[in-house]
Amino acid sequence: MNFQLSEEHLMIQKAARDFANNELLPGVIERDELQKFPAEQVKQLGELGFLGMMVDPKYGGSGLDTISYVLAMEEISKIDASAAVVMSVNNSLVCWGLEHFGNEEQKQKYLVPLAKGEVIGAFLLSEPEAGSDATSQRTTAEDKGDHYLLNGTKNWITNGNSASTYLVIAQTHPEKGSKGINALIVEKNSPGITIGVKENKLGIRGSDTHSIMFQDVKVPKENRIGEDGFGFKFAMKTLGGGRIGIASQALGIASGAYELALKYSKSRKAFGTEICNHQAIQFKLADMATQIEAARLLCLKAAWEKDNGLDYTLSGSMAKVFASETAMWVATEAVQVHGGYGYVKEYHVERLMRDAKITQIYEGTSEVQRIVIGRSIIGK
Ligand code: CAA
Ligand code: FAD
Repeated sequence: MNFQLSEEHLMIQKAARDFANNELLPGVIERDELQKFPAEQVKQLGELGFLGMMVDPKYGGSGLDTISYVLAMEEISKIDASAAVVMSVNNSLVCWGLEHFGNEEQKQKYLVPLAKGEVIGAFLLSEPEAGSDATSQRTTAEDKGDHYLLNGTKNWITNGNSASTYLVIAQTHPEKGSKGINALIVEKNSPGITIGVKENKLGIRGSDTHSIMFQDVKVPKENRIGEDGFGFKFAMKTLGGGRIGIASQALGIASGAYELALKYSKSRKAFGTEICNHQAIQFKLADMATQIEAARLLCLKAAWEKDNGLDYTLSGSMAKVFASETAMWVATEAVQVHGGYGYVKEYHVERLMRDAKITQIYEGTSEVQRIVIGRSIIGK
């Protein structure tokens, strides 16, 4: 067993850290306040190869492993969790899904520009009445011979307005339940698509979350991913890797909040000494560091299993539930370590605390992760 990162991993980690500090940190408070999408920074992430990190270079990607992706996600999320979710959706849901299950024509037409970061993508599974209960899809993709006719509403879609390419999950054969669902590649500018207003959120406010309405949208048959009825398995398999991405986002939020708390505790004095010398504060820092280390190991283990062709469903869910609960707890404690200063925007920790909450909700709530883990350990 080797816990040492390779030279290449360290280089990628440093590149992501430098980008986050130089390009994302300036303006992160303003973007959060104004709910401003980090368009320029996302473009730069694309140019640097961070939007198609794991995609084969022959499809325009960087050809890196999942460990590299975890390291980069942690660094970006430490500074700007909104930019990180754009990166996560594009890499681990949209690009990964297309590369692994799309056909050659679909890859050439849609994956290449997505992997190069020339455009970004979105993943449309959730609906007003189908969130955790994802098999209850109400959106329909009616088979019309040479095309599907798409009708329905998707909710909470990250990159909803900024994306050019949507991967849409919809029901074609309701009588077949989860086996009747399809995954379709839909171009955002197709006639019949209406984009709802941007959601006014607690956290990750720079990210672009919208509902998307489909009314008689024609989708060519050649845009179906995989066999007829493969859509639900497509969504589940893709989300398996997505959960490693969100676990790494949570890890980054936690480590960002911890680093700020540690630094502050070494400079702030109370009762004649730096507050880090008070045992109550030191114990908080000790617990934060321990939990973060455990979360990091879970993320890296899930990534390692994925890179080595092993089943990573269980480890990905464990990483996601543990890292997201760590992020929420660490960020809240980081505000506490800062006292009143932690409650105002310029110290960053209040934003990290607000950003942390979503990691317990999207890509499968903490309860859903426990369902996946529970079923796996009892062998069902
Ligand atoms: N891989 C392959 N197939 C899988 C699978 C997996 N990981 N998980 C389930 N399946 C298959 C099952 O084998 C079953 O197929 P068969 O009937 O052929 O056996 C079929 O899918 C249905 O599975 P279940 O009976 O287990 O389905 P369920 O109704 O009990 O639900 C669930 C299971 C885990 C709760 C699932 O619905 C789920 O993951 N829900 C959460 C949805 C979610 O994560 N949404 C995230 C949206 S994207 C997002 O949020 C992006 C973002 O934030 C940025
Ligand atoms: P519900 O499923 O209604 O759950 C409500 C509560 O009940 C939760 O606590 C849940 O854990 C619990 N619960 C439900 N079922 C069970 C059960 N069987 N056992 C125990 N507890 C249960 N979706 C996309 O498809 N694409 C995106 O890009 C995307 N981005 C998002 C961005 C944001 C900012 C947000 C808020 C959401 C996003 N989502 C996206 C949707 C997200 O995945 C869902 O919100 C999430 O899966 C939960 O679904 P829900 O909101 O319908 O809650």
